[in-house]
This record gives sequence, structure tokens and C-alpha cells, in this order.
Amino acid sequence: MKKWVMLLVSSILLIGLLSACGTSKEKTGKQASEEKKVLKMGTSADYAPFEYIDTAKGDEIIGFDVDLAKMIADELGYKFEIVDMDFSGLIPALQSGKVDFVLAGMTPTKERKKNVDFSDVYYVARNMIVTKKGSGIKTVKDLKGKTVGVQTGSIQEGEAQKLSKTIHMKLESRNRIPELIQEIQAGRFDAAIIEDTVAKGYIKNSGGKLEGTTIPTNEEEAGSAIAFPKGSKLTAEFNKVLKEKMKNGEVDKLIKKWFDQQ
Ligand code: ARG
Repeated sequence: MKKWVMLLVSSILLIGLLSACGTSKEKTGKQASEEKKVLKMGTSADYAPFEYIDTAKGDEIIGFDVDLAKMIADELGYKFEIVDMDFSGLIPALQSGKVDFVLAGMTPTKERKKNVDFSDVYYVARNMIVTKKGSGIKTVKDLKGKTVGVQTGSIQEGEAQKLSKTIHMKLESRNRIPELIQEIQAGRFDAAIIEDTVAKGYIKNSGGKLEGTTIPTNEEEAGSAIAFPKGSKLTAEFNKVLKEKMKNGEVDKLIKKWFDQQ
């Protein structure tokens, strides 16, 4: 009888000890999450066809950038989840470690390179002036005296600030691209400066109410790249796969899928 009790007590102790070991192992959280390799991707899902929510189809974030991220992450054996935020919050989110990488049609400017690292450029676009149809605004000079909208924290905002030094215009910044479009449609903005691939989608969906003209764009300042926290080991990993996929035509296939329908 005594033996039985002893055995019972010691086995309970043993189980307790073992399970304590188990939890303490689990609690070294970094290791655990590295095993699962779930990365966080930051984006600003207001940017069709790069990243957006097709409300007719659901509430999932889809687009060229999402497919590209999946292609690279799959190859490297990572999973990832998307964290949606305003464009101007993306670089701070990388710096604070809230996200592991950013795909958001983000241009690798000198200024940004001071704070984050970038992959190679995977897509190049130009800027476009978007207006109501018949606005008469055809060139940058025509923006003189006009109210012009841009996305907060974007290179288009920087570009417009530069332009406004020689061509006097009233600049207005908004966090999300659809806000810029609404302001034009409501007649509060005369124009907005938006990347052409994105602008074309809004023009097409406006039922003839909007139009746009591409403006001269500095090639260096118009590409999209993947951004990482400074010093992240992911930069080299991702870039190696990105390079391969650009060479073997897989990125081209995605470009066709997402941009040719425009
Ligand atoms: N290419 C521009 C930039 O880097 C605009 C990108 C905006 N992206 C977005 N998802 N809203 O500043």
C-alpha cells in the first residue's frame, strides 16, 4: 500500500517536472516562432494592383506585392501574415520591429535608405496627374494655382513639394489613395499626383469621370523594392530569390497577371 502511494506521488512529481520543462522550453518565444517562421509583412492596402482589398470578393488583401511575397517566402520556407497600415507608418514599423519586411510599392530613396535596407528594384513606374475629365490640366505647369493632393509620406509628396517651389500650388496630403480620389471627385482637389499603374485603375473605374497624364519621372526615384529593418538577415535571403525569379521570368509572369489587365 505504501509503495503504491510512493509510486503515485513520485510519478505525479515526475509529470509535473516534465511538463514544467515543456513550458519553459515553449516560453523561449523567439526560438518557437523561428521554428514556425511566421514573418510579418507590412503594407498599405490602398494601392491596386500592388495591394488592395477587392471588396466584391472578400476582405483579403491581394495583389502583385502579395503574390511576390508569397513566391519568395515559399521558396525560403517562411510563412507570413499581412499587417495593414497607413503608408507613412511602414518605415517606423520596420524600425520598431513591428514588421519583418515591407512590400508596398515602396521606392528605395536615399532618404529612406538611411533608416531601412532595400532589395533590388522589382518594378518601375511613372507618376501621373489625375484630374476630373476636362480639367484642362495636361502638364506640371498647369498645376499653377491649383489644389493638388498626394499621399502622406510618399515620394509623390516629396516630388510635389519640390515642384511647388517653382510652380505655386496648394498641396494637400492624405493617408490613403482612395481619399485623394474622393477629394477630386468632390471638387475639393483639382488634381492628385499618383503612380501611373495605380492611377489607371481608378481612372478606368470612374466611368469616364477622371482622366490622367503621365509626367516626366526620374527613373531612379520611381521603382518598387522590398524594405527590411537595418541589418536584417532577411535582406540577402529575399534578394537572392528575387534575383533568381526576375531572371527566370517568374516575376514577369506576375507583372503580366496584375498589370496587363489595366
Ligand atoms: N512609390 C511611392 C513611394 O514609395 C508610393 C508608394 C505608395 N504605396 C502604397 N501602398 N500606398 O513613396
